[in-house]
Amino acid sequence: MHQECINCGSKYAIDEIGYFCRKCGDLLEVKYDHGELERAAKKSEWRSAPLSVWRYRDFMPIRDASKIVSLNEGGTGIHRCQRLGEKLGLKQLYVKNEGENPTGSFKDRGMTVGVTKAVELGVKAVICASTGNTSASLAAYAAKAGLQCAVLIPSGKIAYGKLAQAMIYGAKVLQVRGNFDQALDIVLELSEKHGSVYLLNSINPFRIEGQKSLGYEICDQLSGEAPDRIVVPVGNAGNISAIWKGCREFHDLGLVKEVPMMTGIQAAGSAPIAHAIKTGSNTIVPVGKPETIATAIRIGAPVSWKKALTAIRESHGTAETVTDEEILSAQKLLARVEGLFVEPASASSIAGLIKLVDNGTIDKSERVVCVTTGHGLKDPDTAVKVSEKPLEVDAEIAAIEEALGLKKQVAVLAR
Ligand code: F0G
Repeated sequence: MHQECINCGSKYAIDEIGYFCRKCGDLLEVKYDHGELERAAKKSEWRSAPLSVWRYRDFMPIRDASKIVSLNEGGTGIHRCQRLGEKLGLKQLYVKNEGENPTGSFKDRGMTVGVTKAVELGVKAVICASTGNTSASLAAYAAKAGLQCAVLIPSGKIAYGKLAQAMIYGAKVLQVRGNFDQALDIVLELSEKHGSVYLLNSINPFRIEGQKSLGYEICDQLSGEAPDRIVVPVGNAGNISAIWKGCREFHDLGLVKEVPMMTGIQAAGSAPIAHAIKTGSNTIVPVGKPETIATAIRIGAPVSWKKALTAIRESHGTAETVTDEEILSAQKLLARVEGLFVEPASASSIAGLIKLVDNGTIDKSERVVCVTTGHGLKDPDTAVKVSEKPLEVDAEIAAIEEALGLKKQVAVLAR
């Protein structure tokens, strides 16, 4: 087990702290000895363990189980969406609802592993830049582990629920006058300069290892079969890369026969990866002033863009952009047809699905899993804004009957 540069293949020890390759500056990923993973896969214990990130302990870069920092992450529901599927003409549609994690987003899968690694490494302080969910999750796991935690968020631009979480868990919350990309540049420089501050953004390869469990779990929940396609919202691009790593590892180990087509969805105003895929480019053009109502994915220079392009191209997937209107209408539809309340960024996977079915990219016979990444209550303001306002009525039966249209029905029955 070691860390390896995704570009030049330079190898680094598993316990070395460093986020980029010292030779070429590219990202690192964790690589395993194939034989060791094969032995882990052959053991039977993990198959009978309950669904959770730590069901896959032997596939993770953590060796000292006594150090695990967990709030019971993973094991989220995969919801068969019959009614939504029927509306779109899809026979097999599922939503993997990551809002069911302890702090309400998929970030917890990465943080349980990343913070456990921080404890193993003996660091005392952790830091991240965030559009909200990463800061909420890191703050919670740092609290559980007794680590100091600082989070940098873009000023005035994150959803209120997420801000409340980071604050109540006791993190030092800094609102940076700038956007997420600027905040990320600062924490990168800070963690290079101060070795004692451990960076837990998704460039940290141990975070990706935790998040790859999302790929494992989807395959396990579909009885050992990969779906034809996984549709994921894309921001900084760690998650799509992680899910792909999980699916590829399961495939290499013979645990699934096929791999899914990875399909990334970006908000139209923050879509450098989707544009690169559509134009066949091998690099991205960062967006200087990213905009979207889906604040979680308002990111113009995704750090894991290269891993994401690889995931999409290797898997024969695709990428699409969706407008704010499409996102909000998909959010409402999912809530009203399936009873699943997800935040706007999460609904972008549903909006993307609708678009790709409409334009014929997704075949109606496909078995599709849409990942919804965060809970709707993270951003109650947007939900209230786009919904019908409550009617204010007098505290009298007659007024309530009038408002609910009950009087008329009674009259009809009486006749
Ligand atoms: N969905 C939600 C709800 C998110 O919070 C994020 C990322 C994404 C999708 C995109 O995932 O970055 O791995 O491509 N949120 C980060 C944060 C950036 O700071 O909370 P990605």
